[in-house]
Amino acid sequence: MIYAGNFKTNHTRFSTREYINKLNLKLKDKNPEDKIYIFPPLTAIDNYSGNFTIGVQNAYPIQNGAFTGEVGIEQLDEFNIKTILIGHSERREILGESQEFVAKKFAFFQKMGFEIIYCIGESLEIREQGEDAVIEYLLAQFEGIDTDYNNFVVAYEPIWAIGTGRSATTKEIEQTHNALKKRVNRPILYGGSVKGENIAEIASIDSVDGVLVGGASLKVDSFLELVFHQK
Ligand code: 13P
Repeated sequence: MIYAGNFKTNHTRFSTREYINKLNLKLKDKNPEDKIYIFPPLTAIDNYSGNFTIGVQNAYPIQNGAFTGEVGIEQLDEFNIKTILIGHSERREILGESQEFVAKKFAFFQKMGFEIIYCIGESLEIREQGEDAVIEYLLAQFEGIDTDYNNFVVAYEPIWAIGTGRSATTKEIEQTHNALKKRVNRPILYGGSVKGENIAEIASIDSVDGVLVGGASLKVDSFLELVFHQK
């Protein structure tokens, strides 16, 4: 299983360091087959070491240059960052990233050899139209994406389940992941209100290869509860 924590716009450099120190104490005992990822905000990126991978939540598809407010490869290289989230619904919806731009980012970071966690997800309006509409919508989010790239993971995050406390049901996750697996031969994470109370059930779904966690990753103890959940 992959356990990925997306801090979004939470935590500072100081609190991230504290978090990682605590995480490291426990991760010694983790299942060697599990992989842990932490995505802190950009100002908290630093040279951390441990049994986990640090990635960024976003970057601009450029080496360096005049892109006010953005960071490129030059800034990521300083911290040896080789992992990135692309296509998160908050960037698509709030920051207005189009599928075309998301695909451009994917192609750039693919060329740079990054491990990409590629996020897709549908709104409640689409979900209410039924499973076929959902799949059609999600497949359109692979437009322009080289799904043969061997260093990427898909994260399926229904927008209506993000931060709402209402996770998708086991059946919804299973159906959707199974349909996605027919299109992409890559690991698929589920994200959207994953927490201590539902991790065992979600992790037990065959087509779930891991979880991408927002709220429940912010406190190290609740993130560890996910990593060390009992089946
Ligand atoms: P929550 O776990 O807070 O629902 O967020 C999910 C998410 O968007 C992770 O990228």
